[in-house]
Amino acid sequence: MNYDKIYATRTSRIKASAIRELLKLAANPNLISLGGGLPSPDSFPLNLVTELTEKILTKYGSTALQYDTTEGFMPLRKGLVDYLQNYGIRAGLENIYISSGSQGFLDQIGKLLISPGDYVAVEGPTYLAALQAFNAYEAEYAQIETDDEGLIPESMEEIINNYPIKFIYTVPTFQNPTGKTVGLKRREQIAEIILKYDMLLVEDDPYGALRYKGETLPTIQSMAPDNVVYASTFSKIFAPGLRVGFFVAPEKFARWMVLVKQGVDLNTSTYTQAMAAEYLLGGYIPAQVNKIINIYKPKLVTMLDALAYYFPEGYKWSKPDGGMFLWVEGPKGIDMEEVYKKSIERGVGFVPGKFFFPNPEDGIETMRLNFTNVSEEEIKSAVKILAEVAKEQLEILV
Ligand SMILES: Cc1ncc(COP(=O)(O)O)c(C=O)c1O
Repeated sequence: MNYDKIYATRTSRIKASAIRELLKLAANPNLISLGGGLPSPDSFPLNLVTELTEKILTKYGSTALQYDTTEGFMPLRKGLVDYLQNYGIRAGLENIYISSGSQGFLDQIGKLLISPGDYVAVEGPTYLAALQAFNAYEAEYAQIETDDEGLIPESMEEIINNYPIKFIYTVPTFQNPTGKTVGLKRREQIAEIILKYDMLLVEDDPYGALRYKGETLPTIQSMAPDNVVYASTFSKIFAPGLRVGFFVAPEKFARWMVLVKQGVDLNTSTYTQAMAAEYLLGGYIPAQVNKIINIYKPKLVTMLDALAYYFPEGYKWSKPDGGMFLWVEGPKGIDMEEVYKKSIERGVGFVPGKFFFPNPEDGIETMRLNFTNVSEEEIKSAVKILAEVAKEQLEILV
């Protein structure tokens, strides 16, 4: 059968994920992969999951195995009302909904808002799988400029003035891929701008809880709750295999989000939502997040030290206060895909940064490094090898 003739036109915009391809390489036991974005399996609370499995079956019985409302498992939604207050999120039960991971949320919002050719404003670089989700709905992109502090509000305003933007998508805290965080003043500016133009902003925040230093910043949602849809997930504070995410939205908007989800999966797994509910209601999150931070923070420090020690002049990198990634920029003229090919030969993987830009000419000289799913020893040897290849590329350049 010739399947090519029956695929929908929108599939021409869906490309294989470079990260998925790289993860395949990570299956090679000799490769040190700084490429994927996986939490450390050492952080997964296996014993607690055994305990909670028992508990949800006793407490909820067959309800945990039944279909449930599309809005989400009620004990979980109720638990999130209090939990989210710690993050300055202004939300009642009518504003909190469950999604199948925050990835499911991104697909839902794309389905609800994007008609073919509609513009979405995104940071350059941005989260690759958000682009993939929106590509399926045939989005166009307007790229907001960024600097060391992430999204530049003035650039966002210029984009709003120059493109017919449907909504803005941003990851303002420990961004994937750069690890950068938008500061308080900029958050206030961003909130002011979206209110001024009556614009919707999607605040994607999977990493906010993984802060290794500094003070928690207020969410943009807390500054403009009627113009922001906030999304987060249990993937980084519990385990991604549960596929439980959640979002906070004005009630009238959320009603539509629920309708578009119905056609996809009816509801997010009741069983794993019950697991997430007991994890939350049992008060396990603070200790578990602490454990995760204690695993990740030394890895980040090791990576930053190794970069400073091994990398040649002309390269710079972000210095994140949290999250799972950092971002290296080489001098103009360096092609990180070349560096990638050579470093793979020497047993080190990463993601060339250009994949994270909607504009394919951008980010040629950049790379994303993940530090959570490798040991400190591996980080040191991987960065040393990367630095050698980076040095060789510099020499070719001169
Ligand atoms: C910025 C961002 N958004 C969303 C997701 C999706 O997370 P999940 O679907 O596991 O909740 C990720 C995962 O890496 C991410 O980095």
